[in-house]
Amino acid sequence: KTLKDLGDLKGKRVLVRADFNVPLKGTTITDDGRIRAALPTIKNLRDQGAKVIVMAHLGRPKGKVVPELSLAPVAQRLGELLGTKVPLAKDTYGDDAQAKVAAMADGDVILLENVRFNPEETSKDDAERSAYAKKIAALGEAFVSDGFGVVHRAQGSDYDVAADLPAAAGLLVQKEVDALSRGTENPSRPYTVILGGSKVSDKLGVIENLLDKADRLVIGGGMVFTFLKAQGYEVGSSLLEEDQVDKVKGYIETARKNGVELVFPTDVVVNKGFPSGDTPIDPKVVPADAIPSDMMGLDIGPDSCKLFHDKIVDSKTVVWNGPMGVFEVPQFAEGTKAVAQGLVDATAAGAFTIVGGGDSASAVRNLHFPEDGFSHISTGGGASLEFLEGKELPGLKVLE
Ligand code: 3PG
Repeated sequence: KTLKDLGDLKGKRVLVRADFNVPLKGTTITDDGRIRAALPTIKNLRDQGAKVIVMAHLGRPKGKVVPELSLAPVAQRLGELLGTKVPLAKDTYGDDAQAKVAAMADGDVILLENVRFNPEETSKDDAERSAYAKKIAALGEAFVSDGFGVVHRAQGSDYDVAADLPAAAGLLVQKEVDALSRGTENPSRPYTVILGGSKVSDKLGVIENLLDKADRLVIGGGMVFTFLKAQGYEVGSSLLEEDQVDKVKGYIETARKNGVELVFPTDVVVNKGFPSGDTPIDPKVVPADAIPSDMMGLDIGPDSCKLFHDKIVDSKTVVWNGPMGVFEVPQFAEGTKAVAQGLVDATAAGAFTIVGGGDSASAVRNLHFPEDGFSHISTGGGASLEFLEGKELPGLKVLE
């Protein structure tokens, strides 16, 4: 169901679940991409004359009130972006939320405090979660699910509230589903998927699912060392998931059988450990099959940057999830930049390109790539991965 299915919303109290789980340094938002992505739905509802009650989570406070995880900086930023004041209720459904909702005029927007301050939000007990969701639902007359980043979770403020009120997908959820579907249903070929990030175990499902869909899998980031190890290389002190090596060997075997091209880095940028106070940044480039035993791989090397870029540009559909290295440190950001540039160049050449995952999306913005250089930058982390895995996502299912 989409916004139109909710009918005329003038004067109606509409609850909107957004994903405002933004990176923070203290109280400063370092990437407001997820807040900006929610604006079309909020503006649409305001234009219709609805009273817009937004709810969201921030971090994982585990059911406790953690002041550092208050949505106050988000309310402030949302207000700036909308050009209106967005009051923050002190609670999610308590006295303050109810009073603030009662005082709303048509077109007003308020934000409820972090839904995860309530232990029931993430409870595994369906009855407990549902009783809590009813208290939230009582604040509104309709529900719009626009937090794409949480639709893979069956949590109170999304999944359960949707079952209590007339509910529909917001414009962001619709846009995400349309774009990501192009990566899963009949993609134009060659179809290349680039996977990075630190953990192979987070990406097992998506890798398995892609072995009979993608034409080419390009692997970098911390997870690549498990792939290098599976091919018999030594990886020094690089990140390694020893318990996944056998599984990864199986994937390499299946890829070969299915004719899926696997692309690994041929060289790696290494450092004597993860850069921190005691460990200075002193990068060296070494061949991927000759990483010294006392060195840690922190990025793909310059030859690999060129290789990855060329493979990406030679594609008609590209999905990228996970940075190639420790991109927050400029000396280890080149791999991630090369991949981002590859997507920008592929887009310019007519390919359909998707950046999926919280980290890759933040990397693109923090490394100053133009957002319109990509066909779609997903706001989902786990959600976009699970979508690409072909899993049924509870937060979408409940809207059908
Ligand atoms: C995300 O950051 O991917 C979403 O906001 C979901 O957060 P979670 O993984 O803590 O549920």
